[in-house]
Amino acid sequence: MLFFAVLLPGMAAESESCNCSAWAANDPSGVLSPHSFNRRAVRHDDVSLRITHCGVCYADVQWTRNLHHDSVYPLVPGHEIAGVVTEVGSDVKGFKPGDHVAVGTYINSCRDCDNCNNLLENHCSNFVFTFNGVDTDGTVTKGGYSTHIVVHERYCYKIPDGYPLDKAAPLACAGITVYTPMIRHNMNQPGKSLGVIGLGGLGHMAVKFGKAFGLNVTVLSTSESKRDEAINLLGADNFVVSSDKNQMEFLKNSLDFIVDTASGDHPFDPYLALLKVRGTMALVGFPGEIRVHPATLNLGARTLSGSVVGGTKDTQEMINFCAANRIYPNVEVIKIDYINEALERLVNRDVKYRFVIDIESSFK
Ligand SMILES: *[C@@H]1O[C@H](CO)[C@@H](O)[C@H](O)[C@H]1NC(C)=O
Ligand SMILES: *[C@@H]1O[C@H](CO)[C@@H](O)[C@H](O)[C@H]1NC(C)=O
Ligand SMILES: [Zn+2]
Ligand SMILES: [Zn+2]
Repeated sequence: MLFFAVLLPGMAAESESCNCSAWAANDPSGVLSPHSFNRRAVRHDDVSLRITHCGVCYADVQWTRNLHHDSVYPLVPGHEIAGVVTEVGSDVKGFKPGDHVAVGTYINSCRDCDNCNNLLENHCSNFVFTFNGVDTDGTVTKGGYSTHIVVHERYCYKIPDGYPLDKAAPLACAGITVYTPMIRHNMNQPGKSLGVIGLGGLGHMAVKFGKAFGLNVTVLSTSESKRDEAINLLGADNFVVSSDKNQMEFLKNSLDFIVDTASGDHPFDPYLALLKVRGTMALVGFPGEIRVHPATLNLGARTLSGSVVGGTKDTQEMINFCAANRIYPNVEVIKIDYINEALERLVNRDVKYRFVIDIESSFK
């Protein structure tokens, strides 16, 4: 009784004055707790969505804990958003109330530079992160660990009917992060071979895309414990423990492509050596440093390329591709009050393969 008597008045006052409920980190401890704030009213080109789900990305750990030294508190993380449209501005053409929509890692860009004009908004120098970014009106953006969001329609993606919203959420970051370089390097050629380094949120999607493209997929992992799931759950053709010199030797010069999702520091030469002549390794993780012997690249005429998320056109294509090919991320759905444990488990790589917050049933 006392608990309610003390807590309820404050909470009621907050929710009366603010129209968006959320969970936020308040300092670099990164511990999240309930928070509320106001979202803007829809402008003529905005879409407002009731958020049903939000995926949990490692970026959420990085910014709630101020690992990039630029966090603004209170900080509402979350950039793998799925929801239902509740309202659209008068000029919105692509969306209507009731539509299922995803929002990813950015919610604005200049819409005027070469990159924006080529629908590579993710490379616009003025692109605005979905959370902890500064929007053009000066407000600090707040992410998807919240009940609704208002976004310019250009940065919203249609989720096809029937695609589950909990599984759609991780497509908006994890999915597009691996899909973009795979398409750019023409990895969608049946019969070719793909190596996937790391089997987390990104890696498991690379395996699924690889199989959908008709590739022979080898998972390269530091841990033998992932073999069974890589092959029997995710459908990989082959599994190699990267510390096993014999297996690595056997794979040398055999792969057409590699997607490297590992963010921890790791050597590059042993992996690049697995590529055939003119093979390509696409880096999507953020190791502390990349060291490569020039001979590994030059003698094999190999390519090492970088990538980060994807543009609006590729993102919509990727979501449509997932729906058409029944590609679904493997998710562990949680309620928001489990988020602090979930972030800790994510740090310890204890998730198969993406946490997704059921926002809808967390804020009742
Ligand atoms: C939320 O509050 C802001 C600021 O008062 C207001 O402009 C906006 O219209 C409100 N939105 C909703 C959906 O009530
Ligand atoms: C896939 O590649 C591995 C490693 O080269 C090979 O052992 C296996 O036979 C291939 N599988 C298919 C179906 O081609
Ligand atoms: Zn992310
Ligand atoms: Zn731009």
